[in-house]
Amino acid sequence: MQEEVESSHVALPAGSRISVPLRLQDVEMAQVARFTSGSAEFDRVLGGGIIPGSLILVGGDPGIGKSTLLLQTAHRVALSGATVLYVTGEESPQQVRLRATRLGSFSDQLFVLAETDLDQIEKHVRAQTPILLIIDSIQTMFRQGLPSAPGSAQQVRECTLRLLQIAKDLHIATCIVGHVTKDGTIAGPRLMEHMVDAVLYFEGDRHHRFRVLRGVKNRFGSTNEIGVFDMQTVGLEDVVSPSELFLAERSIGAVGSAVVASMEGTRPVLAEVQALITPTAFGTPRRMASGLDYNRVTLLMAVLEKRVGLQLQSQDAYVNVAGGMRIDEPAVDLGIALAIASSFRERPLTIGMVAIGEVGLTGEVRAVTRLDQRVQEVAKLGFSRVLAPSGNLTRHESGWPSSVEVIGVESLQDAIRCALGG
Ligand code: TYD
Ligand code: MG
Repeated sequence: MQEEVESSHVALPAGSRISVPLRLQDVEMAQVARFTSGSAEFDRVLGGGIIPGSLILVGGDPGIGKSTLLLQTAHRVALSGATVLYVTGEESPQQVRLRATRLGSFSDQLFVLAETDLDQIEKHVRAQTPILLIIDSIQTMFRQGLPSAPGSAQQVRECTLRLLQIAKDLHIATCIVGHVTKDGTIAGPRLMEHMVDAVLYFEGDRHHRFRVLRGVKNRFGSTNEIGVFDMQTVGLEDVVSPSELFLAERSIGAVGSAVVASMEGTRPVLAEVQALITPTAFGTPRRMASGLDYNRVTLLMAVLEKRVGLQLQSQDAYVNVAGGMRIDEPAVDLGIALAIASSFRERPLTIGMVAIGEVGLTGEVRAVTRLDQRVQEVAKLGFSRVLAPSGNLTRHESGWPSSVEVIGVESLQDAIRCALGG
C-alpha cells in the first residue's frame, strides 16, 4: 500500500491554455528544426535528430551506460556552440568530470549542476535557457511540499510533469534518465511513458560490449528503430554495421547455429541463433531461451515435434541469440526452428545460408515483410543462399542481387530438407 496525496493544481502543457476549436487545416504547421545529437545512431532512433522542446525518457538497467550516453550527447551538442545543462542527482560534479575526462569530452558550453530539488533546477534552467537539458536521474529528483520520498510514484510523476512544463514553456529539449529494475517494482519509467514525447530503452548485456538503444514510443518519428553502440573504454561508439558485429564471432559450419535476418525498424540486422539440444538427465526437460521469446521457442519446438516428427519431448533445449542481442520478430521463427533441428540431428546448416520466415502452427512458412531489404543485407554480408517463404516470391522473381540464391520454401519440412539435407 502506498499513500498518495492529490495535488491541488491541474497541470496543462504550456501553449494549450486557450482552448478554441480550430479547423484542422487552419492549424499552423510548426517548422520542426531538429538538431543533431552528434551520434547518427541516436539521431536515427529519435527519427532524425532532437526536436527542441521535446521530452525524451531514456530508461535502462543501472550500469548499462545511460549516463555515459547522455554525457557524450551533451558534449557533442555543446560543441556546436549551444549551451547544455547536465543535472546530476546521483554523482558529484567531480565524478562527472572524471567520466568526461575518460570520454575526452570537454566543451565550453557544457555545464554541470549537482542538484535534486526541482525548484532549484528550474531556477537555473530559466536563467540559463540551455538548448538541451539532461536530468540524471528522475529517481533522485523531488519537489518540495510533497510528503513522499524521491523515487516514489508521486514524486516521479510530479517531477516529470514539471519538467514537461518547463520543456514546452522554454522550448528546451529535455532528456530524462530513468532506471528500470528487473522486476519493475520501483516506480519509474513505466509511469512516465504516457507523459513524455519519446521513450527510449538502453539495453544490452553488461558483460558484452555492445548496447542497443530502442525506441518504444516516439511522437516525432517511427518507433522500433534501434541504435547500436559499442561500449569502449573511452565511451560509446556508433556501430555502422550491426550485422557485422553480431556475426563477428560466428564459427562457420557449426551445429545448432542459424543466421537470421530481423527487421529492426527500417534496418535489417543479421544475427546468429544458437540452439543446444541434449537428452534430459531426469525429470521434466529444461527449456531456456535468451534474447528470444520463451513462449515462441516452446511453440516452435511443439511444431517441430508434431509436424516434422522430431522427438524433442525428452530433450533439454537451450536457445539464444549470440552476442546478447534481443530479437522478437516473427521472421526469425524459421531460423530458430532450423537451429533446433540442426542441433537435434547433429548436422550443420548449409554453409552461407540465411533463414527468413515466420512459422505457423501447421508447420507452414509464412510470408514476411520487406524481404527485399533483408536479402540486400544478406548479400552485403557475403552470404550466398536465403531460405525464404515461397509466399513472398510469387511477385518477385527478379531483382535480387546476383550473388544470392533465394530458395522458396512452403513448410518447415521443406526448409529442413533444404538446409540440413533430409
Ligand atoms: P554508466 O553510464 O554510469 O551507467 P548508468 O548511468 O546507466 O548507470 O556506465 C556504466 C558502465 O559503463 C560502467 O560499469 C563502466 C562502463 N564504462 C565503459 O566501459 N567505458 C566508458 O568509457 C565509460 C564512461 C563507462
Ligand atoms: Mg548513471
